[in-house]
Amino acid sequence: MTAKVIKLRSLETSIALKTDFVALGYAIGNDAKITFPQSKKLAIGIESAFEIDLIDELLFFAPTGKAGEIFEIPISAPGVGCERIILVGLGRVSLSDMRASGAALGRKMRGSKKSLFSAVVTSRKGIRAHALAIILGSFQWNMKTNNAPGPSNAIYVSDEFADEVDKANVIGRAVWLARDLIHTPSNIKTTAWFAAQAKKLEKKGNLSVKVFSGKELSLFGGLRAVGQSSPKPGPRMVEITYAPKGSKSWPHVVLVGKGITFDTGGISLKRPYDAMIGMKSDMAGAAAVMAVMSVLPEMNPRVKVTALLMCAENALSATAQRPGDVITQYGGTTVEIINTDAEGRLVLADGLAYADAKLAPDYLVDIATLTGAASLGLGRQYAAMYTRNQALAKKLHALGDSSGDRVWHMPLIDDYASALKSDVADLNHNASAAKFSAGSVTAALFLEHFAGDRTWVHLDIAGPARSESDSGEYPKGGTGFGVRLLIDWIVGLA
Ligand code: BES
Ligand code: MN
Ligand code: ZN
Repeated sequence: MTAKVIKLRSLETSIALKTDFVALGYAIGNDAKITFPQSKKLAIGIESAFEIDLIDELLFFAPTGKAGEIFEIPISAPGVGCERIILVGLGRVSLSDMRASGAALGRKMRGSKKSLFSAVVTSRKGIRAHALAIILGSFQWNMKTNNAPGPSNAIYVSDEFADEVDKANVIGRAVWLARDLIHTPSNIKTTAWFAAQAKKLEKKGNLSVKVFSGKELSLFGGLRAVGQSSPKPGPRMVEITYAPKGSKSWPHVVLVGKGITFDTGGISLKRPYDAMIGMKSDMAGAAAVMAVMSVLPEMNPRVKVTALLMCAENALSATAQRPGDVITQYGGTTVEIINTDAEGRLVLADGLAYADAKLAPDYLVDIATLTGAASLGLGRQYAAMYTRNQALAKKLHALGDSSGDRVWHMPLIDDYASALKSDVADLNHNASAAKFSAGSVTAALFLEHFAGDRTWVHLDIAGPARSESDSGEYPKGGTGFGVRLLIDWIVGLA
């Protein structure tokens, strides 16, 4: 279930006032002057309809003008359905301010049966960011028996850039899907459950879904080793293909997502135990990839896209893999297991090697909650991005800023590659992280071995995949990070 933004034909006061709440954006200039930059006409209409002075009303709250700041003015007049004016700060009216103001409005509407008209109309880019943020801010997920998320309220924005509002709805639905998958607890979210969710996408047409399991995975030594501790239902690889007619001549993108349905660390058990609490989110990369695929038939880009969801549970049992084991990845590379908690790179390596050998990608992208180290330098707002392709890095960085899924280009430091040496196998998989104290970099160097000569990008989303607080566009828990970025990138490739 998702919120949906509906286009309203005009900013006429009479139409806007049919909704329960009307939102107007205000900005405060350096001269402390308050303006309603996006909705002047409507502001004047409201002032005369209710005989109020909006600036007077606002001054009463001592506003700072910060983006997302919200004040409410109850109103009533005979024959007018509208019961509240919501004044929302627009900061400097930048793209990220459009997001912050939208998220604040969405949050206000969360679970509410009321309708909202947001008169915050900006540029073409601004309206999409704002509308999408309203949808994202209103997200909720729970399994409470008396408080299940209800059907969504109607939210309206101006139709000035109608096609952008349509896109916001489609992308919003994708992010909600990713969040729903991430929030689902791991007692429900088995690998089989996850594959079944993917299988449902086939109904959309123009997507085919193949689930690999059991013997079909015999060459996927990484996926099998990680998944062997949880024999039922066992690991899965889900291949989703978007290849409409004519796609043979289009660029081909392969997306590989880490889909660990729960990460205990395995025999190298996670410590402190509290570090395990968020580990139902360890499939956030696969969730983002599935969500991107789910809307391609509607976005209709002239890009062929193949998704590989690498799904396993990193459980702890008598059948678990051990430190010191040597496994054979897809393609034959042998890997010495050091720390069973570094499971993500093992499942991804199989996916990358399979993509390189079988799928002939023009772009090979993996996305994974891979290392706690990725968030040490960058914090929780940026993903660590690794690639040798400078132009692509630049592009993704810019799209990160415009979409809200921000990424920072990190270096693949060749001097650290010696950390991957093993005495007994082709590679040691834990990259003796202590040696260089660069766990996110060495994990990326490990993955690079499996990407062949492809144009490859690795997104380590361990930081932004989960939010510890309910704030801005993010709910507490799974954020759906990466969905907006990847959709914008793929759609722009065509
Ligand atoms: N899933 C974790 C990474 C993670 C940590 C994601 C925190 C989100 C929040 C991954 O499988 C892991 O355990 N990585 C280890 C690697 C280490 C053993 C080399 C880590 O980051 O500590
Ligand atoms: Mn782990
Ligand atoms: Zn993990």
